[in-house]
Amino acid sequence: MDEDQLNTLFSNGILVDSSIKDTNISDVYGLIRSLKEKNVNFLDINTFHDLYNGEASTDSDIEIIKNYEGEISESKPPNWVNYFNDRFNRLKTILINKDRSGLSSLSNIKNMPQSSDVKSIVMVSSVSISPVKKYTILDIEDNTGSYKAIITNSNQEILEDQVVMISGRKYNDAIFVKDIIFPEIQMREKVKQEIDDSFILFLSDIHVGSKLFVNDAFERFIKWINGEIPEYSNIAKLVKFIVLNGDLIDGIGVYPDQEKELAILDLKGQYDKLYSFLDRIPKNIKLILSQGNHDATHIAEPQPKLDKTFADSLYKLKNAVFLSNPYQVNLIIGKAKINLLSYHGFSITYYANKIPKYSKMDADDIENIMKIHLKSRHIAPSHGSTQLMPLPRDYLVIEETPDIYATGHIHKTLASIYKGTVLINSSCWQYQTSYQKKYGMDPDVAKVPIVNMRDKSFQILDFLGDKVQTYKKGLKEA
Ligand SMILES: [Fe+2]
Ligand SMILES: [Fe+2]
Repeated sequence: MDEDQLNTLFSNGILVDSSIKDTNISDVYGLIRSLKEKNVNFLDINTFHDLYNGEASTDSDIEIIKNYEGEISESKPPNWVNYFNDRFNRLKTILINKDRSGLSSLSNIKNMPQSSDVKSIVMVSSVSISPVKKYTILDIEDNTGSYKAIITNSNQEILEDQVVMISGRKYNDAIFVKDIIFPEIQMREKVKQEIDDSFILFLSDIHVGSKLFVNDAFERFIKWINGEIPEYSNIAKLVKFIVLNGDLIDGIGVYPDQEKELAILDLKGQYDKLYSFLDRIPKNIKLILSQGNHDATHIAEPQPKLDKTFADSLYKLKNAVFLSNPYQVNLIIGKAKINLLSYHGFSITYYANKIPKYSKMDADDIENIMKIHLKSRHIAPSHGSTQLMPLPRDYLVIEETPDIYATGHIHKTLASIYKGTVLINSSCWQYQTSYQKKYGMDPDVAKVPIVNMRDKSFQILDFLGDKVQTYKKGLKEA
């Protein structure tokens, strides 16, 4: 809304709430007529929506950087060699951009004299520890062949299938490693953007359809976002985007005996119920929906956007955007741009099981595993850490450093920062299931991480109790 429109509203006796300031109004006189017909002389965002029933637009926008559109691999049987070559080449490009000097292929290194200083970009095909001297022994490969590398003094965590740049000395048909460079994200400077406070909310793992879905808390959230709850209403009215990061419904047949814990026994019914909630969110807020392992699609990643066969009701939401898992976008408000990488988070569980020191799956562990992703520039670096679609392109490579990396799946809360990138894990809306109880997983329920687009500051709100309040567990100070 511009200055002239504001003055026109004032001179017609209409007071304007700040929540409406970012809204584009094409026909201000039509708006005044509608307000006068209804005897309304105070305009806030909810009144605006009531009048326009979902036609509102704001200056918020979404620019897609990476989104899997559902194309399938032409080759039969699936071509895993092409898939891994694509991954290797994409990560190699990132590493070459860090340091291109003195690189040799493994086939060239094999022909070099003993004691040569060597440097190469390789994929680590296996990691083992020598029983006597406790050295780390790597089997490494590139497009030209395979070799061995030995690390004698490293504290660095190196994992199978990571692509790294190693440098060292050739000796006895192995490279004795001096240095390892990971593709690693770049440092994101903390810049204050020239906009007013504008918030992104992160929800995931709503699990609608489960008997354990926390209906009361989700109702509280919907009331809050509509400005009907006083606590933190200053935030509610400045929310521009809600990211819904998979496991939107509980699904069917996802874990043994799940049907005993289901309140809604069909997928369409579960999505319809979710629609009944999301339709009550003010339409000036953009909803970005993606899927997880409980949703009605294949588990292998990348997962295409929600299937209309089951989720047709959600496609009626005029303010919703449907994307793949994972995806990367720019969220735009006026002149401000926030680069968001969103991934449901399936591979996090693999690393929690694989690396004993991360097995508690508390906020620190989740943070450390998300750092592995960013350091490897891949959301599931080790083969087997998630199920994969062997497409000609590897959508799981992190090509651009994000401002925010958001995950879910673990049913825990995290808001932290690493190299200027905000790390989010967005809890869940489901009490502990019998399956989680069996494995000692104790969920954080109904917590909502929030990031301010203006300065990337973050906090977590708790909707579980009677009052909406801040939540400190899982919140790491910047
Ligand atoms: Fe979940
Ligand atoms: Fe999940």
